[in-house]
Amino acid sequence: MAKSALLKSSIAKKVAMALSGIFLMLFLAQHFFINMTSVFSADTFNSISHFMGNNPLVQYVIQPILILGVIFHFIMGIVLELKNRSARPISYAKNNGAANSSWSSRNMIITGAVIFAFLGVHFYDFWFPEMVYKYVDVNPLNEARYFHELVAKFESPVRTALYSVSFILLSLHLWHGFNSSMQSVGFNNKYSVALHKLGYVFAIVVPFGFIFIALFHHFNH
Ligand code: HEM
Repeated sequence: MAKSALLKSSIAKKVAMALSGIFLMLFLAQHFFINMTSVFSADTFNSISHFMGNNPLVQYVIQPILILGVIFHFIMGIVLELKNRSARPISYAKNNGAANSSWSSRNMIITGAVIFAFLGVHFYDFWFPEMVYKYVDVNPLNEARYFHELVAKFESPVRTALYSVSFILLSLHLWHGFNSSMQSVGFNNKYSVALHKLGYVFAIVVPFGFIFIALFHHFNH
C-alpha cells in the first residue's frame, strides 16, 4: 500500500477506536446512574431495570449494538497495539519509559484485557442468567426480582474484590482513553482543556462509584 493510503487507514482505525470508546463511555455513564439507584431505592432500581430488560428497542436494537461495540473496541485495540509494536522496534520501556508518557497510556492493552476478562465474569454473573430467565425458561415477568439478584451477587467477598480491582483498572483505562479519543477525533478548540478535566473526573468518579456500589451491597445486606 502507498505510504499515504497506509497513513489514512491507520488514522481511520484510530478514529473508529475513539468513536467506539466514546460510545462505550456513554453506555458506562447510563449503567452507572441506573446501578447507583440501587443504593438509594430498591423500587426505583427494580422499575428501571424492568424497563431496560423488557423494552424492545433496548433489547433488540441497543443491546446488540452495545455488544458489537465492545467486541469492535477490543479487536481494534489489539490491531492498533500490534501495528504500533511493529512500527516501534525499540520498545517504549527502553525508549521513552516513564519520562514522557504515563503508565496508563503505555498499558492500555493490559488494562483493556483485564476489563475484557471482567466483562466475561460480569456476563456470566448477570447477563447470561437474565437471558436464560427471559428467553430460555420464559419465566413470568417479575418486576421485584432485580434488586435481590444484584444484592445476592455481592454477598461473596471474592466477587466483590474481583469487581473492585477490575474497576481500578477501568479507571486507569479511562484516564488515558478519554483524552486520547478526543485527540483522535481532532477535538481541539477553546473547550479542550475543560473537556480534558471532565475526562479525568469521569475516569475517577464512575469506576470508584462502581466500587462504592459493590462495597455498599457487600456490607449492607
Ligand atoms: C458495581 C458495578 C456493576 C453492577 C452492579 C452491574 C450490574 C449489571 C447488571 C445487573 C446487568 C444485567 C443487565 C441485564 O439485565 O441484561 C449488567 C449488564 C452489563 N454490564 Fe454491568 N454492572 C456493573 C459494572 C459494569 C462495568 C464497569 C461495565 C463495563 C466496563 C459493565 C458492563 C456491562 C455490560 C456490557 C452489560 C450487558 C448490558 C446488556 O446488554 O444488557 N458493568 N450489569
